[in-house]
Amino acid sequence: MDNKETLLLIQNITHQAINPMSGVIGTLDNLIDGTVPEHKRSQRLTRARSQLEYTVSLIRNLSYFAEYATGNSDSISSSTIKTTVIPQAIIESAQFFQERGENTDIKIELENRKIQNCVKGDPNLLKQVFMNIIDNGVKYGKSGTKLIIKNNIQKRTNDLIITFEGNSEPFTSHDSIFDIGYRAKSAQQKTSSGSGLGLHICKLIIENAFHGKISGQHTAAGVTIFEIRIPNGFTK
Ligand SMILES: Nc1ncnc2c1ncn2[C@@H]1O[C@H](COP(=O)(O)OP(=O)(O)OP(=O)(O)O)[C@@H](O)[C@H]1O
Ligand SMILES: [Mg+2]
Repeated sequence: MDNKETLLLIQNITHQAINPMSGVIGTLDNLIDGTVPEHKRSQRLTRARSQLEYTVSLIRNLSYFAEYATGNSDSISSSTIKTTVIPQAIIESAQFFQERGENTDIKIELENRKIQNCVKGDPNLLKQVFMNIIDNGVKYGKSGTKLIIKNNIQKRTNDLIITFEGNSEPFTSHDSIFDIGYRAKSAQQKTSSGSGLGLHICKLIIENAFHGKISGQHTAAGVTIFEIRIPNGFTK
């Protein structure tokens, strides 16, 4: 990435962080001056919380990117002593998008949630990955469809396999969706919001901190599937 591209990326991310923050300030102003009726307060506060959550996630992406780009990944490599319980991490990540999913009429469903599939590694890192993928699923998803999340341990290899399956905007195998700053044309037409950082961070985290693999494909039937594969999965 050259200097000009880096500056454009920073400009884009700053812009995207400011929008939701302005929304939160607007909500707080309205609550302070009493223009929000009692019965709408809780809804407005929940939305403000999601907006803050989104900004925090964006800034976390930036921070992980800086950590990997500068090679300063001590905190990441030392995180292998921790354990991530997959269904729990997915539920916590999906929470932030539930409200947005309801607005866009996309239902998030987690299958197999009772089995405690686990991997070694920091839950915060995997949650960041899940949040980026779910954010995309809701942002680019077709209204009235479902985003189905599955997690299983493959018996033969002990690989933990997590899939996210939804109906969304198309991309082709030529689209470099994991490259930094890349956004497919169809995605740009659907929404101007996005910096092309999310999936790049997912790949950095999955490959470097979990020694796994991540892939994405859009089938002829219009289904988008993202798959994460992490070695040495186990059940608690
Ligand atoms: N679920 C999806 N359905 C369709 N296209 C997707 C999906 N997820 C990712 N893409 C494509 O991959 C591109 C890169 O995704 P990525 O998450 O890295 O960036 P972004 O969503 O545009 O921005 P952000 O940095 O805010 O996440 C998207 O712009 C879009 O073209
Ligand atoms: Mg994204």
